[in-house]
Amino acid sequence: MPNSSASPPSRGKVSIHSLQSKKKRGEPITFLTAYDFPTAVALDRSGIDGILVGDSLGMVVLGYENTIPVTMQDMIHHCRAVARGASRAHLVSDMPFMSYHISISDALRNAGNLMQKGGVDAVKLEGGRERVPVVKNIISAGIPVMGHLGLTPQSVHKLGGWKVQATSRESARVLIEDALILEDAGCYAIVLESVPAEVAGLISKRLSIPVIGIGAGIGCDGQVLVTHDVLGLFDRFTPGFVKKYADLFSEMERAFRSYIDDVKERRFPAPEHASSMDAQTLRDLIQELEMLERGIDSGENIETRYH
Ligand code: KIV
Repeated sequence: MPNSSASPPSRGKVSIHSLQSKKKRGEPITFLTAYDFPTAVALDRSGIDGILVGDSLGMVVLGYENTIPVTMQDMIHHCRAVARGASRAHLVSDMPFMSYHISISDALRNAGNLMQKGGVDAVKLEGGRERVPVVKNIISAGIPVMGHLGLTPQSVHKLGGWKVQATSRESARVLIEDALILEDAGCYAIVLESVPAEVAGLISKRLSIPVIGIGAGIGCDGQVLVTHDVLGLFDRFTPGFVKKYADLFSEMERAFRSYIDDVKERRFPAPEHASSMDAQTLRDLIQELEMLERGIDSGENIETRYH
């Protein structure tokens, strides 16, 4: 499907190098999330730079309250579907909660599995200076790492909720330091989530790697959003920083109601939705059935007649 005639001409795989060149040229970088094959195909065809298989899938696809229950198995399952659909966009998988916290060797094995079994080009993990040993070890194996700072959803309980981060001078300074430390550790890009636009702007200016913002204002080098928010597919809540480009949840409900009505009122399936048998074959079949049924009437065993 990604190579069908409806696809725009392939411009080649988006690499880390192409993302970094975009930053140098001051060209905004575009990312959205995907968790399944059709969304990946649509994003790839639309010309998106990068697709994030976010652990947000725990909330918008699997119905959890937050991202904490998401497992490596969940991530690999969804990464594989996305990787089958996207041949051009740069693919990043989130490392789920507890997949990089226990030991650096465990973290490397999990990052390797996301790349090898999930088919992604890079992994993303949450946290600042405390992640440096893990980040360096993963990168030393040839696996690119994207950092994630600001509102880090896997720490939602520690942070006390889904709050804007780095609002004080001190916390903003710590955030800026963390961003510089992650760049130094070798991260090729950083996601900055829910931080004041001014702080995100200061960070984007100070880093030579791309800063991809979500709820972090216009001063970032690129933007990412959760696709289910963009499409209006997740009706539980929508963060204030989201711009909704469609209302697919309402559209889905409308379509389901129409289908149910059509079935109840016998408007579906119409003749064009069914196949029919050739008239002579049907006559022969009916004749055969009638003969068989007459056999039953005359006391013959139906089992022996039908088999
Ligand atoms: O899980 C996710 O979708 C993310 C984005 C919100 C950046 O990490």
